[in-house]
Amino acid sequence: MTEISNETRFLHAIEMGLGAWQWGDRVVWAYGQKYSDKELREGFEVSLNLGVRFVDTAETYGSGYSERLLGKFLKDIDQPVLVATKFFPWPWKITKGFIPRALRGSLDRLGLESVDLYQIHWPSFTLSPEAMMEGMVECVKRGMTRTVGVSNFDEKRMIRAYTTLARHGIPLASNQVHYSLLTRDVERNGTLARCKELGIRMIAYSPLEKGLLSGKYSTQNPPPGVRGSHYADMLKKLPPVIKLLQELGQTHGKTATQVSLNWLICKGALPIPGAKNVKQADENAGGAGWRLTEDEVARLDEATKDIHR
Ligand SMILES: NC(=O)c1ccc[n+]([C@@H]2O[C@H](COP(=O)([O-])OP(=O)(O)OC[C@H]3O[C@@H](n4cnc5c(N)ncnc54)[C@H](OP(=O)(O)O)[C@@H]3O)[C@@H](O)[C@H]2O)c1
Repeated sequence: MTEISNETRFLHAIEMGLGAWQWGDRVVWAYGQKYSDKELREGFEVSLNLGVRFVDTAETYGSGYSERLLGKFLKDIDQPVLVATKFFPWPWKITKGFIPRALRGSLDRLGLESVDLYQIHWPSFTLSPEAMMEGMVECVKRGMTRTVGVSNFDEKRMIRAYTTLARHGIPLASNQVHYSLLTRDVERNGTLARCKELGIRMIAYSPLEKGLLSGKYSTQNPPPGVRGSHYADMLKKLPPVIKLLQELGQTHGKTATQVSLNWLICKGALPIPGAKNVKQADENAGGAGWRLTEDEVARLDEATKDIHR
């Protein structure tokens, strides 16, 4: 493993984060129906009190509402919070100049002068990794972000981003990818190993596989909305995994949710579960601060080897 740079060391010290896609999103998460700003604020505050101080948002979440809400919450608290947001490379954003302009918009919504991590949300067909990183270099030079990350980048694109930044003496801080017990592509395609080798923090999104790993959903009780059809096949194979998660959880005094999150920490990733309320935020925070044994991790690997995508 290469040495972790001083600029990005803080990210490697974080065990757990909080995802803010739910904050204002009506399409997937039905914001405004069973939860609203009050529940989100309570969840945010309990997270901070339990030591979860890294929040991941994006300019697209709730069409900017997530960033606005975070900005509002930040005004009312004393604890330091590390803020990560993302640039969305819409196909018409064809020059690097769009990146600092988008970050200016995010900073205005957040009410901040700079963020701790600015990420490219997805690769783009109209803007190369090199051009995107040149835009990110501008953001760093202007003091608008402390560090630079990517998201949904495969190993090749990640290396192109890493190399471009390196020419400017800037480390690639992170790659945010879909990673959970039920989605383990990054283990097979080399991205996780490469991140470790280069000192890039892997941030795991959808770490609970959008709620499935809590054990509350089944074929008889599928998740609402688009998740129901998306996960129809996976739900059929889920019961033995949940049983094992619960069994291992009993040994540690933890829930299936907490064991799922801890498995990611044991793999060297930083999970950022989304939470809609105080109960979920409280439970998710309990996924950190302890460790499954190597044998338990191996049992979970084995139990999910034919399920994961
Ligand atoms: N970079 C990207 O492309 C990308 C993509 C996706 C997500 N993300 C980031 O990653 C974060 C997390 O991913 P995600 O929100 O997709 O999925 P997730 O964290 O796997 O699942 C979150 C959902 O699971 C349920 N849940 C959470 N905690 C629970 C608990 N303790 N007990 C029972 N149910 C619980 C809630 O939904 P219900 O109560 O409705 O079941 C919640 O909305 C996002 O908020 C976002 O910041 C990034």
